[in-house]
Amino acid sequence: MIESNQNTGLFPKSTEILGTLGFSPLEQNYFLSGGKIHVWNGPMHDIHSPVYIFQEDKHQKIRLGSVPIFSASQAIDVLQDAVNAWDLGRGEWPVMRVKDRIKAVEHFLELYKKQREKVVKWLMLEIGKNRSESEQEFDRTSDYISDTINSVKQLDRDTSNLELNSGIYAQIRRGPLGVVLCMAPYNYPLNESFATLLPAIIMGNTVVFKPAKHGILLMEPLLEAFREAFPPGVVNIVYGDGKEVVKAIMESGKIDVLAFIGSSQTANQIKKLHPRPNRLRSVLGLDAKNPAIILADADLDVAVSECIIGTLAFNGQRCTALKILFVHEDVLHDFMQRFCLKVEQLKAGMPWDENVTVTPLPETGKPEYLSGLVNDALNKGAAVQNEGGGLQHLSFVFPTVLYPVDKSMRIYHEEQFGPIVPIVPFNNINDPVHYVTESNFGQQVSIFSNNATQIAELIDPLVNQVCRVNINTKCQRGPDSYPFNGRKDSAEGTLSVSDALRVFSIRTMVATRNNEGNREIFTKILEDRMSNFLSDQFLL
Ligand code: G3H
Repeated sequence: MIESNQNTGLFPKSTEILGTLGFSPLEQNYFLSGGKIHVWNGPMHDIHSPVYIFQEDKHQKIRLGSVPIFSASQAIDVLQDAVNAWDLGRGEWPVMRVKDRIKAVEHFLELYKKQREKVVKWLMLEIGKNRSESEQEFDRTSDYISDTINSVKQLDRDTSNLELNSGIYAQIRRGPLGVVLCMAPYNYPLNESFATLLPAIIMGNTVVFKPAKHGILLMEPLLEAFREAFPPGVVNIVYGDGKEVVKAIMESGKIDVLAFIGSSQTANQIKKLHPRPNRLRSVLGLDAKNPAIILADADLDVAVSECIIGTLAFNGQRCTALKILFVHEDVLHDFMQRFCLKVEQLKAGMPWDENVTVTPLPETGKPEYLSGLVNDALNKGAAVQNEGGGLQHLSFVFPTVLYPVDKSMRIYHEEQFGPIVPIVPFNNINDPVHYVTESNFGQQVSIFSNNATQIAELIDPLVNQVCRVNINTKCQRGPDSYPFNGRKDSAEGTLSVSDALRVFSIRTMVATRNNEGNREIFTKILEDRMSNFLSDQFLL
């Protein structure tokens, strides 16, 4: 542990650099609800950066600004705006033609793109994500929005015809579900907000959105865009303590869909609050402890470079991160030597510095939690393998490679969500397979090998345990057109550009018996374009 007031040179000595980023504190004493940006006169919550300033021989966290703290009744007022805009499915937005909803989203996208610099700045300052990953998060979200628009058009084309089966005509389309509560995690506070918010909106639902616990101010530059692009009440935002605000919203029984990305424990607590569980649909992205299995014949150059980004990109704070490495004893020495060398070359610094990987962690108490995991492993026989491993300085936790790790240690079971890399040696392939089958998690796995037979033998048992088996490739969510889901405690529902449109909607149909009178009625409705739903128009 480095003394908190020791000058390591890691943190800036003046606020001058913040000026060059375009930073000044943001007191967000306003909020968006019911199509208006309201002035807030209530209590405010201070937001601090994980970045410190070293001045006058001491470190101090940078204060970034503040946001409102809602009470339960203020949260219910915001919820009511979403409920009013839904209006039992008769609101302007849920009954709007798909092409008009798309126009609104396209308008939003134009406004969104203009806020790149500001949002990227807040990503760096609020969660410590390095510049290139912050830019990627912004751009990936922009692509996600335009891909979603294209996917909605395709869906519309696919459902613009009438079917005739057993004497019944039907038009089957996907309709919205109602009011959606969206909650995002701090590690992708922008992208994973939009991963649920956007499909929910575009399918005609109305939304109450609660920003992540870190990564709140970065939504501020988008408030005006939400207000301008969508009818009143389509997007409404709540702030404050989840225990009060989310509790009140869920207990109201007015939420139709819970979209939550975070821990399974919290998801379970939130779901239980709903008084009418059959009415509630859940779309959840939860815990994971994805293993990499490095076989004796793996190409170690590939395995090492994939495992470096797999374990340590954004300091290991990705749900898809590789969180435990099983390495065959025949290549253990070689793998570990090369892996540790690369770890030692990772540059630590401020998120805006060039080529940095190791950056400050945003969660209070996280360094203490991680050192608890490391100490537990050390007490049970593991050792730190890399130079600088185990060191911490305030919000910095330096990557720590632990070996040999076994099942007696907490790090073997717990999702560290941080830069600790446990290595488990194995001789018998049943050991890592057993790890996967016994685990409470079921998201992904990575296999590193050049032997097609061995890989094939692992694919078949593993695809029924996890939802993605990566070969010579790290675990990851993208590309976003692929399904992102998990088994066991790892997820509920599937997210991808097209799957998300399905999870936030339900197949609804208009049907009639095939006779002359009904055919005439349907023809009139279609020809005169009298209904937004029963319609043979489609989008190009
Ligand atoms: O934290 C979970 C993210 O959805 C992972 O996304 O694999 O693209 O980093 P990623």
